[in-house]
Amino acid sequence: MLEANHIVYKYEDGTKALNDVTVKVNDNEIVALLGKNGAGKSTLFLHFNGIFKPDKGEVLVEGKPIKYNNKGLLNVRSKVGVVFQNPDDQLFAPTVQEDVAFGPLNLGLSQEEVENRVKESLKKVGMSGFERKPPHHLSGGQKKRVAIAGVLAMKPKIMVLDEPTSGLDPKGASLVLKLLYKLNSEGISIIISTHDVDLVPLYANRLYVIKEGQIIKEGTPSEVFSDVKTIRDANLRLPRIAHLAEILEKEDSIDFEGEYPLTISQARNQFLEKLDL
Ligand SMILES: Nc1ncnc2c1ncn2[C@@H]1O[C@H](COP(=O)(O)OP(=O)(O)OP(=O)(O)O)[C@@H](O)[C@H]1O
Ligand SMILES: [Mg+2]
Repeated sequence: MLEANHIVYKYEDGTKALNDVTVKVNDNEIVALLGKNGAGKSTLFLHFNGIFKPDKGEVLVEGKPIKYNNKGLLNVRSKVGVVFQNPDDQLFAPTVQEDVAFGPLNLGLSQEEVENRVKESLKKVGMSGFERKPPHHLSGGQKKRVAIAGVLAMKPKIMVLDEPTSGLDPKGASLVLKLLYKLNSEGISIIISTHDVDLVPLYANRLYVIKEGQIIKEGTPSEVFSDVKTIRDANLRLPRIAHLAEILEKEDSIDFEGEYPLTISQARNQFLEKLDL
């Protein structure tokens, strides 16, 4: 579906932000890219719809390498929707309505279809009623939701979201995650970057860990988080609930047999088992 193969990317000032990065999002997967500040997440994501062109390597969308001419880029952007880390980089129209309508209008859809898509997308992100507001009068979390609505309105096959939950309140974060889950069940493939290790095991099928422009680990959440050394080496941490299990194992001799729970419901099951209830 979406592949980055052996990407090398250097910024003009000489910073080598990506050094041989290979990442794949299969059909219908939710993949998360974890990495500390400056690891290269945003740089990689800007390759996924051709905003950046790799110095070496290639990006494939539905098995075909991106062509960096107008037609090729237009084609890629109708398939791959990228939500930027900073919504101020994404929102530019005078009103929320016009902003969300911009992409669908460019696809040449009818006025009626555009209006339906805008309405539906704003509703999905919990931003109905804000249509006439200028984006710069919105709060940070509201801007983020409108930016996501703008990409939803394009109905892409693949969604690339750079830290979609950062800056959102717990309800907003949960709303966005539920929405992504739903979109995924409707056949959309998703890749997300995040540092939020507590949320990741709830939705991601597969994880990549990036450090200094290189992928240092790949696997299911339980595979990745059982490698505690690599997680800490990447300046990340275990989900809180797994950390509690780690402490119970080390300090209180409760054996989790190398499988720490990653979510509250996993923890509940494991604790009930160990308490023999
Ligand atoms: N425009 C730029 N010019 C030069 N170097 C840059 C530029 N943008 C980013 N970098 C550098 O590239 C590296 C990767 O940055 P990137 O923004 O991809 O990290 P990130 O993983 O998204 O971090 P964060 O979690 O803070 O968003 C960093 O060392 C950063 O300083
Ligand atoms: Mg970033």
